[in-house]
Amino acid sequence: MEGPAIVFDDVHKSFGRQVVLDGLSFSVEEHRSLVIMGPSGAGKSVILRHAIGLLRPDRGRVEVLGEDLTKIDDEGLRALRREMGYLFQYSALINWLDVFDNVALPLRETTDWDEERIRERVVEVLRLVQLEDALRKYPSELSGGMQKRVGLARALVTHPRIILYDEPEAGLDPEMSASISQTMRRLKEELGMTSITVTHSLHCALTVGDELALFEHGNFVAHGPPAEVLASDHPRVRAFFGPQIA
Ligand SMILES: Nc1ncnc2c1ncn2[C@@H]1O[C@H](COP(=O)(O)OP(=O)(O)OP(=O)(O)O)[C@@H](O)[C@H]1O
Ligand SMILES: [Mg+2]
Repeated sequence: MEGPAIVFDDVHKSFGRQVVLDGLSFSVEEHRSLVIMGPSGAGKSVILRHAIGLLRPDRGRVEVLGEDLTKIDDEGLRALRREMGYLFQYSALINWLDVFDNVALPLRETTDWDEERIRERVVEVLRLVQLEDALRKYPSELSGGMQKRVGLARALVTHPRIILYDEPEAGLDPEMSASISQTMRRLKEELGMTSITVTHSLHCALTVGDELALFEHGNFVAHGPPAEVLASDHPRVRAFFGPQIA
């Protein structure tokens, strides 16, 4: 593949009269990780939903692994989604399936693997998030943090090349949150995964990010290596991060 893994080129998106993305442009090179932080309600999840083709821009272009998502057909999008994992902000588990079947779902939808092979992979990925003992539990029997980790296992199960994390640490205790950040970092270092992470945790951002962006009012107000962004004297950067890095 030529060029970056993910490209946003002058992306505009409004809901009614509310402008959420206002000419947003950035790219993520393969094997790199971008962390996006910003105020609640700014549109960070909307960015991720554009990257996976759940939303289409009003104007501008989104490209993933060389495919233009604004032009792709349903079949092309399905094929591309095999290469992409998405950890939803609110886990989005299926209530009537147990943990095993929730995590197995993407494999059943996108591969012709037999049950034996599916089982091996599901157990492997549940071990990674320390949930191999919860195979037969249903989402309603899990804590919020456990649901989050099942969501992570499901996002990883197909060995995607790209993963989008929406608040991976939210609702987790500090120890589990640090452990998830370490897992994300390992996935990048050992498997070379490309990622975009949305988070409110500076600790998570610094653990996983090659690049950090502050997103506000439809665009990045700062974007670069984390240390540079945090040292910036841009008034919005000071206002947003100031309390955390004073
Ligand atoms: N499908 C939709 N239809 C209408 N408005 C939407 C839709 N999706 C998002 N919005 C609006 O876009 C804005 C940005 O939402 P988004 O969920 O991306 O915020 P966020 O930055 O992820 O916030 P948080 O940190 O709280 O998760 C919000 O005002 C939201 O109401
Ligand atoms: Mg969000």
